[in-house]
This record gives sequence, C-alpha cells and structure tokens, in this order.
Amino acid sequence: MIAARSHFSLLISNFKIIMKRIIMIGYMGAGKTTVGKALAKELGITFYDLDWYIENRRRKTVSEIFAEQGEEGFRKIEHNMLHEVAEFENVIISCGGGTPCFFDNIDYMNEQGQVVYLKASPETLYKHLMMGKGDRPLLKGKSEEELITFITEQLEKREPFYSKARYTVDVSLMDNYDKIKITIEKLREILEL
Ligand code: S3P
Repeated sequence: MIAARSHFSLLISNFKIIMKRIIMIGYMGAGKTTVGKALAKELGITFYDLDWYIENRRRKTVSEIFAEQGEEGFRKIEHNMLHEVAEFENVIISCGGGTPCFFDNIDYMNEQGQVVYLKASPETLYKHLMMGKGDRPLLKGKSEEELITFITEQLEKREPFYSKARYTVDVSLMDNYDKIKITIEKLREILEL
C-alpha cells in the first residue's frame, strides 16, 4: 500500500513538470521577453513571444499589421493567436503589453496557465524603453516628454487588467544581469518551479 502511494505521488510530480504553462504579462519595456526567455532556458522548456508568433504566422511585422489594419485589426489577430499559443504545453509565453486588456484575454489566460504580471513604475518603463525603443507602433514619433505622459496614463488604464494576474513580481529594480537573475529566482519561488 505504501509503495503504491509513493509511486502515485511520483506520477503526480512528473505530471506537474510536464504541464507547465507560464504566461508573462506587463507593460512594454517591463522585460517580459528577457525574463521569460531566460527562465525557459533554465527550465529547459520552450519560449514563445506572442508578437514574434504573430509575425511568423502572418509573415508581417507588428508595425505592418498596425499600419494596414489599425489597432483594431491587430487586436483581433492577437486574440486569435493567443488562443493558439496558450494551448501549447510546457511553455513560457510572453504576451504583448496590450494583450490582457482586450476581449476576455486576461480571464482566458488565467484559465490556461500561471499568469505573471511583471510590474514596473512608469519611470522604470520609460528608462527601459529609452534604452531600446524597438519598433513599437504605439510609441512611434513621441518626444521624450510625450512618452512619459503616455506611459503613465496608459499604465493607469491597463492596471485593472494586469492586476488580475495570479502572480505579480515587481521588476522596477531590474536593470542589469544580476537583477534579471533575482527576478528569475523570485519567479521560481512563487511558481514553485
Ligand atoms: C503593445 C505592445 C507590444 C506589441 C504592440 C502593442 C501594447 O508588445 O504587442 O506593439 O499595446 O502595449 P511588447 O509589450 O512586447 O512591446
């Protein structure tokens, strides 16, 4: 009887390892991709960035989709693609900053996996975005002053969606390699990885 029980719990723990699906959300520049990618590498599981997935499937950049179909068109595509990637097992998925804030995406994410909100102050996000503004259509053409106002206002609107995540990690201090490491350690602790 005892032997049968320990075999059963071994099966359960194996099941837990196989069935990982971690979903990273947060504002642009929070470090979702950096942290998600590094954590996936450590765990030996596959990393997906939703924007890259969309670009691959559509054979167009996010900027091109915004230019051709507007934000509304992009959000529909994003919603559909989220439903594709969030079916994969044993993965870490990094979403776009706006993904949780449209349709019922955040509720769906919570049903599908362990959702983590990488929270950062507008000042930290601004700093990160200035270091690598990337090709983000929503930020294009904004002066530094406009950018900080935009981030502050948009973050306030998005916070109610982000805060629906089951887990939150504050990444405001994450500016160098050590801090990325600390964030990953924190994630491993709270997600029991
Ligand atoms: C967006 C964030 C971007 C990308 C698109 C829209 C947003 O992703 O999905 O430009 O609305 O915040 P990142 O958060 O990875 O930059």
